[in-house]
Amino acid sequence: MCGIFGIVGKKHRLGELIDGLKKLEYRGYDSAGIAYVANGRVDVAKQSGRVAVLEKMYEDRTSTFINVGIAHTRWATHGNPNDINAHPHTDCTGRIAVVHNGIIENFNELKQQLIDSGHFFKSDTDTEIIAHLIEEYYGGDIFDAVKKAIKRLRGAFAIGVVSADEPDKLVAAREGSPLIVGKTEGGGIIASDITPILKYTKEMYFVDDGDIIEINLNEVRFEDYYGKRRQKEPQRIDWEETAAEKSGYKFFMEKEITEEPDVIKKALTGRISEGKIRLDEISEWQELLKKIKTIKVIAAGTSYHSGMVFKYFLNELLPISVEVEISSEFRYMRQWEYDDETLFVFISQSGETLDTLESLRLVKRLGGKTLAISNVVGSTITREAEKTIFINAGPEIGVASTKAYVGQLIVLYLLGATICQAKNCSLETTFFQDLQRMPQLYENALKQSDEIREIAKKYAHFLHFMYIGRKGNYPTAMEGALKLKEISYINATCYAGGELKHGPIALLDSEFPVFVIIPKDDLYQKMKSNVIETRARNARCISLTTNDNHEAKTFSDDVIYIPHCSDHLLPLLCAPYIQLFAYHIADIRGLDVDKPRNLAKSVTVE
Ligand code: AGP
Repeated sequence: MCGIFGIVGKKHRLGELIDGLKKLEYRGYDSAGIAYVANGRVDVAKQSGRVAVLEKMYEDRTSTFINVGIAHTRWATHGNPNDINAHPHTDCTGRIAVVHNGIIENFNELKQQLIDSGHFFKSDTDTEIIAHLIEEYYGGDIFDAVKKAIKRLRGAFAIGVVSADEPDKLVAAREGSPLIVGKTEGGGIIASDITPILKYTKEMYFVDDGDIIEINLNEVRFEDYYGKRRQKEPQRIDWEETAAEKSGYKFFMEKEITEEPDVIKKALTGRISEGKIRLDEISEWQELLKKIKTIKVIAAGTSYHSGMVFKYFLNELLPISVEVEISSEFRYMRQWEYDDETLFVFISQSGETLDTLESLRLVKRLGGKTLAISNVVGSTITREAEKTIFINAGPEIGVASTKAYVGQLIVLYLLGATICQAKNCSLETTFFQDLQRMPQLYENALKQSDEIREIAKKYAHFLHFMYIGRKGNYPTAMEGALKLKEISYINATCYAGGELKHGPIALLDSEFPVFVIIPKDDLYQKMKSNVIETRARNARCISLTTNDNHEAKTFSDDVIYIPHCSDHLLPLLCAPYIQLFAYHIADIRGLDVDKPRNLAKSVTVE
């Protein structure tokens, strides 16, 4: 889950390498480095710590002209995060430099072979062997040497390579880790994702596994491992560069939560009118949806939680089986041949989560029907799934997923309603009305941010938290707990409300507050009993409840009110509240909300 960036051309400056890294830092941030070719040699600078450390080091040299350069921000897999293990890595001569995102599985044997043939190593990383392998094959053509070297690699990689002897060339390759190429006038760019390329061009090439690329001053050339030319057409990406900027907010996470009303509007545009849903992306599947008997949702993290909301939603409406699987578990389970009465839905904001991607590939090999729900155009999962519905939420930079979760929920509600339509099952009118007024309800939720912060101040010091909910709000409890733990490092756990008595209530005392999702729905009385049980153990209680609940204050230490809406949509309406609560707790604790420790935005390793 690292970020790589590279640039070649006649008019580029060193500072562009730093700027490119800053836009990728959310992908991994335990160390950073650059390498560039100028005056016939490769200069390398790398440090443990954030990109800001590197920026400080070069603050008076950002306008230095460079012919070609590569840069890297790291999420360590092999070798501790320190200066020596930071990328870029060079060969013995120091005239070839490499940056890499991924894991080389056979690096130990390759390293031993290279040591036996006289190479000396400086770092503990798998990446460094790539530089020495290229050196082994280098005979004056860096593109040719890379083609030969990567044939010996096993594992996942996206690499950028420069050579002091060929200052007008940037070479890259991809196997299993994301890589995007942008063509510029008289040169080009490589990056792990779209955001750092946007300032140069919106025409981008999405690199496939097995692609090797040479970017020189005249062309972008794609070949396979055996030298066969691969024709590629660029795709236009209509994201604005400012969309990947903080625009005055303290953190991207805060900005992205405030974008949620627009995310909902965009996701609904052209897809819902007079109680009818229209998902053009799957319009050919009408017959398939009519006969579907099983839906399997495969995802990780927050995307798994949106899949769980989908399960509860559809479960209320249709007698079909909806199974939600954690992708890192699903891909190792015993699988069977699949017919077209089973639909597989792969949910992934980044479209690059390796466990979800490998699950997709497994299902395709077994003949399953595959649908991706994602936020990133051109991402691998969306290019390998049979069909894709994009959530169009714009770049999500904060590591903790917020607006993408909301966009996923909207698309999943629309997918569920489409399946209902196909099976002639009617949804109540209030569902459609409330779905269409959701942007306004979200605007109102955002206005409660200060009130939520005041409550958060009373709980920011706790080391433990329990979230509980029932039915579709059990996944809300899951998501609330994940948000809190991943950005505030509080040990947040979650349970279905009815599970408390089966063990978890033993955890509760005055140091273990409970966040209860307790709308006035058909299980309200059951949840109220749960709350009373928790308070009998002196646990503090925050109730997230509907504003027709006039007794909440009698059994809660703090209450956050939400308006009433269709019961089906309560998980959607609760999302901004659980996100804002976690955001404020983390901010009050003085933490880096956008770049939590140990995490990265996209998990492209397994
Ligand atoms: C969400 O807040 C987390 N950062 C993480 O769980 C994320 O949802 C998970 O890694 C899945 O990512 P994806 O949606 O890009 O596949």
